Amino acid sequence: MKMKKIFTILLAAIMLFSLAACQGGTTETESSSNTDSAQNITEESTVPETDSLEETSETEPAETSGPEASGQEASGPETEGSRILVAYFSATGNTEGAAQKLAEGLGADLYEIVPEIPYTSEDLNYSDSSSRSSVEMNDPDARPGISGAVENMEQYDVVLLGYPIWWGEAPRIMNTFIESYDFSGKTLAAFCTSASSGFGRSDSALREAADSSTWLDGIRFSSSASAEEILEWANGLGIN
Ligand SMILES: Cc1cc2nc3c(=O)[nH]c(=O)nc-3n(C[C@H](O)[C@H](O)[C@H](O)COP(=O)(O)O)c2cc1C
Repeated sequence: MKMKKIFTILLAAIMLFSLAACQGGTTETESSSNTDSAQNITEESTVPETDSLEETSETEPAETSGPEASGQEASGPETEGSRILVAYFSATGNTEGAAQKLAEGLGADLYEIVPEIPYTSEDLNYSDSSSRSSVEMNDPDARPGISGAVENMEQYDVVLLGYPIWWGEAPRIMNTFIESYDFSGKTLAAFCTSASSGFGRSDSALREAADSSTWLDGIRFSSSASAEEILEWANGLGIN
């Protein structure tokens, strides 16, 4: 009976010991595999993040220095540094599209001529003789105000002027623009978009206002003109 008690105690001690040893092993294995997977997550998530951060910091300056990178600013061209400026007015976006393709292709600065008072669709109703556009175009002396200005006009040797055809002419806001700066010694050329009218003599009032500049032949584009078509004209001007 005494031997049986000793055997039972011994057996209980062995079982306790082996149980403790077993638990210790499991904890070690689990914690080591948790560490591995934690490292894996850290590595996996760190490497791409670092890469994409590097990419961002490399591409960001290139993007912001491109002519179309920053938002439209009424106070100055979108980029600074070129000797060619593309300055345009666009009421419904067609001329803007052409101007952007032109500036991008030439590496030129881009400036939007923004009216102090934006044109509403009623203002642009050419079927209404009392609409703002009709009234302005019926008055050769109308000079709609411009919001903002080109601060560094002296930087540019070449200014390309873009506008929509309104009743066969450049909108009067283009007269406001051309009369706001000294273009003498610069080379100028106009481009326009229209529904169907040709370029005609749409730049004649602008030429008169800046008669000490060198004027090159202008051109009319459709609203769907391609970058190739636009650049074919620009590259033929001999300005770059
Ligand atoms: C007031 C007004 C007058 C227009 N007159 C003519 C015109 O005489 N001949 C023509 O072909 N298109 C005319 N159009 C159409 C525009 O020239 C054409 O839609 C142009 O591409 C618009 O350019 P934008 O989107 O840059 O403003 C006229 C448009 C407006 C609003």
